[in-house]
Amino acid sequence: MKNLLITGGAGFIGSNFIKYILKNYPNYRIVNFDLLTYAGNLNNLKEEEDNPNYIFVQGDIREKENLENLFKEYTFNYIVNFAAESHVDRSINNPAIFAKTNTLGTQILLDAAKTHWQKRKDEQGYPIYRKEVRFIQISTDEVYGELDSEEYFNENSPLKPSSPYSASKASADFFANSYYDTFKLPLNITRCSNNYGPYQFPEKLIPLMITNALQNKKLPVFGDGMQIRDWLHVRDHCKALDLILHEGKLGEVYNIGGNNEITNIELIKTILDKLNKSKELIEHVRDRLNHDRRYAIDNSKIASELGWKPKFSLQTGIDQTINWYLNNKDWWKKIKNGKYQKYYQKMYENR
Ligand code: NAD
Ligand code: TYD
Repeated sequence: MKNLLITGGAGFIGSNFIKYILKNYPNYRIVNFDLLTYAGNLNNLKEEEDNPNYIFVQGDIREKENLENLFKEYTFNYIVNFAAESHVDRSINNPAIFAKTNTLGTQILLDAAKTHWQKRKDEQGYPIYRKEVRFIQISTDEVYGELDSEEYFNENSPLKPSSPYSASKASADFFANSYYDTFKLPLNITRCSNNYGPYQFPEKLIPLMITNALQNKKLPVFGDGMQIRDWLHVRDHCKALDLILHEGKLGEVYNIGGNNEITNIELIKTILDKLNKSKELIEHVRDRLNHDRRYAIDNSKIASELGWKPKFSLQTGIDQTINWYLNNKDWWKKIKNGKYQKYYQKMYENR
């Protein structure tokens, strides 16, 4: 039996990864450690609740004591850190919580892993760790900043984060790198493009547009809508993380992209067509501050080293995602009609 700590497992990508691991690794026990912020939702994992290989612990990666208690109770082989504040618009309204959770929280978690896994020190003072342990820091392509030409981000592209969100994630990457260089903590950093798929919180572009269209509400397009994103289906992402966790070269960064570049406006029109809804629902609103125009990922490293490539085309992925939101109205209506409604309204008015 191997023990896997997933932080932020009640969020979108974390919950999909937990489902993926439980299905593919029956000899793994998962501890999902999540603070349950507005974005954490235990309904994402209703089907897993009774699985004997799944345990939920509520806690905060920023609290050293929370982590010490957790590490006293379980001996982990792997740690995958999804816990974060993840929405760019929220980071513009309130940068401080992004610095605290994404940067400081990651550093505290890295430190706890170092202490937990260290067996002893070598003669020069470098820690020697237990065998077969690994920390994966989930980062984002947004740390590279924006691209305005035909270029692609590769793992050597300079980090030029432009929003408080991406700045907090880039800072966490620097900390992770420093724990590898200074303390030899066995780790990888992964930088993926925009994810989409089941269980994504309806503040992000694709689920917001699908659910607003289904409710005949306006679809807010920031600025001209000509910004380009590269969409990665969350299941393709999970497969890539599986390969990195088990076969990635320690200390390396891996970019993970969907090979699905599209402008926001084109994507929104595709969603409306598929739902048979009128384009009149589209409403151009004031642009996001300092809105990055284009992100695009060069996948060649993970393709050549680990044999990964995305399986979902955007067409298949969007069809599957729309079907999921059509079949799971209770899931998203509970969010949209609950406390979130007030918060969304406030954030939107503050833009
Ligand atoms: P999410 O917002 O859906 O989930 C984040 C989870 O972290 C929530 O369950 C929340 O309760 C938990 N959390 C927040 N603060 C915490 C804390 N202090 N301690 C413990 N748990 C805490 O985010 P997501 O979309 O699933 O993203 C997961 C990771 O992937 C994040 O690190 C994000 O930066 C990264 N990422 C996401 C995307 C994307 O398109 N969604 C793209 C690139 C990278
Ligand atoms: P988002 O899902 O917030 O992800 P990110 O900002 O991390 O890329 O947004 C994706 C794109 O969609 C981004 O260019 C901003 C745009 N967008 C809108 O035009 N309207 C919206 O209501 C939202 C949430 C995003």
